[in-house]
Amino acid sequence: MGEENLYDSGYNYPLSVIHDGDHGGDDFITTLVALQRSNEINLLGITTCHGNVSVNTATRNACLALDLFDRRDVNVFEGADVPWKIPSQRGDNAFGFNGLGGVDMGEPKKTPQNSSAQEYLANTIQATDKKVNLLATGPLTNLAQLFSSNPSLLENVELLTIMGGCLNPLGPNKRQGNITKHAEFNFYMDPDAADFVLGLEIPTVLFPLDVTHQLVFNENRKQMARSVLKTELGEKLIGVMGAAENVDDSKFELGGAIFHDALPLLFLLKPELFRGKSMHLSINTDSNSEYHGQIRECRDEKMNRSQVFLVDQLTDPGGAFEIILTSVSAVAEQNSRTVA
Ligand code: RIB
Ligand code: CA
Repeated sequence: MGEENLYDSGYNYPLSVIHDGDHGGDDFITTLVALQRSNEINLLGITTCHGNVSVNTATRNACLALDLFDRRDVNVFEGADVPWKIPSQRGDNAFGFNGLGGVDMGEPKKTPQNSSAQEYLANTIQATDKKVNLLATGPLTNLAQLFSSNPSLLENVELLTIMGGCLNPLGPNKRQGNITKHAEFNFYMDPDAADFVLGLEIPTVLFPLDVTHQLVFNENRKQMARSVLKTELGEKLIGVMGAAENVDDSKFELGGAIFHDALPLLFLLKPELFRGKSMHLSINTDSNSEYHGQIRECRDEKMNRSQVFLVDQLTDPGGAFEIILTSVSAVAEQNSRTVA
């Protein structure tokens, strides 16, 4: 394991970013923040995947997020509806039937494109004149399929930031995973894809539960949100931010919903908020094992894989939440003006 340190980002803003997610509540909020922070993030497009909800519902939710912006240039492309190599895994319905905690965001006006996520990713990454950053917040099925059949595209990827996995978020002898005792949801849903992607020769930064549990939408932050998000849309967005709170609390008692997927985006915006370590990682892909989907530090033949920068500390959770809240309240404000 490498020394604890800051990641040397050397970012040249704005970053060209594609968001690949399974658009439940925290993916949805992450897309809003990315679109709102257009000085730093040039969101090229959104690709969707099975996970929190069916891929059709994830696509619908990504379209609903885009409806809150006047951005015809950003489109949604539907991706994998099942894992790469195994049958679908059963999730925990953390974000409810519609992926947004039951919050009714209406019918989407935006519609997905006809081309698939695979076609879009391959064409965009191939044609780019500026390297692309991939922001992955769901099972890694789309990316595993993409790079296994088009390895030359790796050259055009600047950085891959991933929410997934868990090492030791709560200390020894405690529950570590959020879907099984040992595994985190995104990696559990497609362990083969996660194992393949973590071995790719591209700069990769991983945000496991160890760090995402440090950013919780607790009662104090909810009060802060209520004091600035006073419109009908604002109240709905508070509902979306808290969508998984019952499931999260029942497992970890952290006092609210966890903003998992926002962290890899916050890293693109402010890498200095995070600390981590470089490690060789692999994923347990044995579907007969109770450790299926578990992340492991390599001590074996997989040591020749490329290293991943694993983030385990968020140094300023208050500052991180402020970025989310400022962006979400700007979205609510802009839309109330549009409606008026
Ligand atoms: O384990 C957290 C992950 O699972 C997040 O991506 C969240 O959206 C859920 O899908
Ligand atoms: Ca997600």
